[in-house]
Amino acid sequence: MRELATRMDRLGTESAFEVLLRARALESTGRKVIHLELGEPDFDTPGHISDAAAQALREGHTHYVPSPGIPELREAVAEFLGRRGRLQTTADRVIVTPGAKPVMFYSILALCQEGDEVVYPDPGFPMYESITAFSGATPVPLPLREENQFRVDPDELAALVTDRTKLVILSSPHNPCGSALSKDDCEAVAEIAIRNDVVVLTDEVYWAIRYGGEHVSVLDVDGMAARTILLDGWSKTFAMTGWRLGFGVFPSWLTEPVTRLVINSVSCTSAFSQYAAIAALTGPWEPVERMVEEFAVRREVIVEGLNRIPGIRCVEPAGAFYAFPSVRDLGVGSKHLADQLLERAGVACLAGTAFGRAGEGYLRFSYANSVERIREALEAVEAVLPEIVAAS
Ligand SMILES: Cc1ncc(COP(=O)(O)O)c(C=O)c1O
Repeated sequence: MRELATRMDRLGTESAFEVLLRARALESTGRKVIHLELGEPDFDTPGHISDAAAQALREGHTHYVPSPGIPELREAVAEFLGRRGRLQTTADRVIVTPGAKPVMFYSILALCQEGDEVVYPDPGFPMYESITAFSGATPVPLPLREENQFRVDPDELAALVTDRTKLVILSSPHNPCGSALSKDDCEAVAEIAIRNDVVVLTDEVYWAIRYGGEHVSVLDVDGMAARTILLDGWSKTFAMTGWRLGFGVFPSWLTEPVTRLVINSVSCTSAFSQYAAIAALTGPWEPVERMVEEFAVRREVIVEGLNRIPGIRCVEPAGAFYAFPSVRDLGVGSKHLADQLLERAGVACLAGTAFGRAGEGYLRFSYANSVERIREALEAVEAVLPEIVAAS
């Protein structure tokens, strides 16, 4: 009776939530923990966005709404993407979802099955591999290498694409590496996608969090909009992780099947939240700029601090809010090291292996925490490293 469907064996998880649980358990015993494990901005949602939600509630927007999103929001997303120079599209291609994650789930479920292959970045957001395996398709890791600043190497991608490849997943700026694709990278990847007739899912939830340089995307390349799914949302750009608001922009032939998946799973995204989402897209941009400026300061502190610690080496991230240092020279496995840093230093971070096999030898520190806490964490890590190394 209690036997699960075999497909559940293929469904993974996201260890950030497990580490958070362990960190909270430690805190409940009176220990102090510095949280550098969480992938969410530590800023409040800007006031005008929360006000719009409150007003929508008072106005009675508390009922079911159309499954792909309210028309005003779909229009606002299309207008926003055009205004920001990211994509000229129309509202009928936009589907609003509870968070950006469902766009991955729906896209992969709609497209992929046994016999198909999905190429995804390794290290990468763990759900790419997990959902692909769940769909019955075969996940094919595309290694991102430190010596290439963790960017996709188009030659390696070309070597992995076969006639079974259905989907290539990109993430830029990248979680966990903080890397960002260049214009040349995007053009080379687009050429491979077009030549091999594959669909691309471009995860751009960190597009606004860049440290110099414009955001570029495979969508900038002519001909790509017809074969590319843009995954984005409000969680990171507007510090709205708890609101569960995301969107996908789909090639026209995918909007009906994806809408059907929305109908089958959640019916629609929270009605009043969608009015807040409009306020975010049409309102002032200064709160986003202030947040990114603050992340830039923290980035400097953490990258410099990590590079000062003997045995640790950290590439400067181009975007997102993660530092992904190499700890290979310490000779301690990533998972063991992350566990020990939590236990002995009270610093919660993630092992690189939480993001795929190619993450061995790395840790991920989220710098969505204050400069003061980041400095404390760096000191604590440096202080305990010798004893961790000696004990291993
Ligand atoms: C690369 C990437 N894509 C998607 C998501 C999911 O975003 P959301 O919280 O809007 O579902 C995350 C969240 O951490 C992420 O890091």
